[in-house]
Amino acid sequence: MRRLLPLASILLATSACTTTDVAVAPDARDPVMIAPILTSADALDTSTYAQPQVARVTHVALDLDLDFERKRVAGSALLDVQAAPGADEIVLDTKKLTVIAVSDGAGTPLVWNMGQTDGERGAPLTIAIGDARRISITYAASDADALQWLSPEQTAGGKHPFLFSQGQAILNRTWIPTQDSPGIRQTWEARITAPKPLDVVMSGIAQAEPEDLGDGRRAFRFVMDKPVAPYLIAIAAGDIDFAAIGPRTGVWAEPATLERARYEVADTEAMVEAAERLYGPYRWGRYDMIVLPPAFPYGGMENPVMTFLTPTFIAGDRSLTGLVAHELAHSWSGNLVTNAVWGDGWLNEGVTSYFENRIVEEIYGEKRAKQEVALDYMAIIETLEEVGYEAPGTALHQPDGTDSAGSAIVYNKGAAFLRTLEREYGRERFDAWLRQWFDRHAFQPATSLMIYEDLKTNLAGSEAEAERIKLRDWIYAPGLPSNVAKPDPVAFAEIDAASADYAGAGSIPGGWRDWTSAERQRFLQTLPQARTAAELARLDEALGLSTTGNNEELFLWLELALANRYAPAVSQAEAFLARVGRAKFVRPLFQTLWDQGDWGREIARRIYGETRSSYHAVTRSGVDRIMAKD
Ligand code: BES
Ligand code: ZN
Repeated sequence: MRRLLPLASILLATSACTTTDVAVAPDARDPVMIAPILTSADALDTSTYAQPQVARVTHVALDLDLDFERKRVAGSALLDVQAAPGADEIVLDTKKLTVIAVSDGAGTPLVWNMGQTDGERGAPLTIAIGDARRISITYAASDADALQWLSPEQTAGGKHPFLFSQGQAILNRTWIPTQDSPGIRQTWEARITAPKPLDVVMSGIAQAEPEDLGDGRRAFRFVMDKPVAPYLIAIAAGDIDFAAIGPRTGVWAEPATLERARYEVADTEAMVEAAERLYGPYRWGRYDMIVLPPAFPYGGMENPVMTFLTPTFIAGDRSLTGLVAHELAHSWSGNLVTNAVWGDGWLNEGVTSYFENRIVEEIYGEKRAKQEVALDYMAIIETLEEVGYEAPGTALHQPDGTDSAGSAIVYNKGAAFLRTLEREYGRERFDAWLRQWFDRHAFQPATSLMIYEDLKTNLAGSEAEAERIKLRDWIYAPGLPSNVAKPDPVAFAEIDAASADYAGAGSIPGGWRDWTSAERQRFLQTLPQARTAAELARLDEALGLSTTGNNEELFLWLELALANRYAPAVSQAEAFLARVGRAKFVRPLFQTLWDQGDWGREIARRIYGETRSSYHAVTRSGVDRIMAKD
């Protein structure tokens, strides 16, 4: 006998009545997996309202429905709490959330209060917990900065809507009411319902097959049984398929993109193996990736077990796969050992950029690795020349309230620091040190002070030696210490000669088509930047710049052309800015236009009027800031 109706109504009722039936992973409650909170002054996160020493979240169980029509997630979050003796309140981070009800684990209502909103941090949600150690929050998020709801037209397939989240740094509080601080690690699980035929992926391990709810929706379950920083909870949903790469690696993408994506990331399993040989076991089980639509605001995001990637890294020749190595490396630096405060972002990004380059060397060889180091070094020098060697924003450790001078510091100077240590002590000793850093701080937060002490004790060995290698300056002083490991001077010898030939005699490099992508990028960055329209036309004609499938090179071409007010580049830039939402490309192109005075500002305003609504909140806020400066 078929019992379709009653079953369907039970399932519906279950999904409507929130989280009571959510299965709890056995490990999630294991006290050894409750990560400690750092209490030192350098670990005080000013971006959170949470007071974890009073009461903290240890586990999050989400039960959410994805409503693509209303662009809204709604449901509940069931939080496990640990509280100090006598604590009677817990404070959570929220931003633009609609809280409907708060109760304890048994369903008894709890008194709660939503505090004043401050622009950046959002609003504190304070809950009187009494003896409760489980709280359930029923809520909805309809204007979440973390989430981008794409219309079918913004996807490759053009038929179905798409959703993705971007949590880092403090955006997850716009769709999850929890303590949104990287030093407050939490295990989590989720039950997500979504309309057919969409598939849902998250930064946790999928539990079995989705359940058909009989009402046109399916329920997907995920578990992350390791305590993670809450910015690492991520979701994506769309018309997506999966292709396996190796035994523990694979890639998701829209059907129209999957084959190109699979080809581009085919080296991933080998990258995981290389990373393990370098710095110890990959501790997360699977390593999967999803290639998102081009609206994704970053190149990549290291969401555990499910790296999120922009499709703009697909060049057809695996020349931009340092991105994959980078996000994979975060499985150690960032996800395993995590900056406790955002002012120590170099602990995540600088260490990862170093690690990324070691993986690139293993997979693609020394030449490519050294060229990428040389490009990174040039970016450091450019930033220092621009903002000044004394600018406080050029220190690795950023005290609260300092504006970092940007990614060339956090990423490239951070990596240059580790490369300098590698040169000082040799690979064997340095690698052993880095591995023990990951091992001893696994699943825990860390600070600049902690790595400073660790390096002094376990690598330098003495105060005098720490002084000699300028350890303190490297971490705390602006500029670039004099013992910096310089890039290999021959990495680009041929390219720099070609660039000089072009600058002098105007000769176009004949070898261009055989050059690596790093070589082409180097040429574009070193040729004389003031060019006439005739010179730009000749370059484009000879090198095919405006029609390249390599988005890093296309971006450099557009920057160069717009900076010279080259009219034919305007429609090219317009097409690019309508297609791509990656902030690293979009922001500088609008900035370049803006810097051109009336000519460029008019174009920028016109293009942005068309494209703004297609960008993620991250990209939008960056461009808004440029346009606001009149
Ligand atoms: N974790 C970052 C992205 C990020 C940083 C998001 C800070 C929000 C705040 C990611 O790992 C990253 O660094 N992406 C780079 C990759 C590149 C350096 C290879 C990007 O998006 O371009
Ligand atoms: Zn990164």
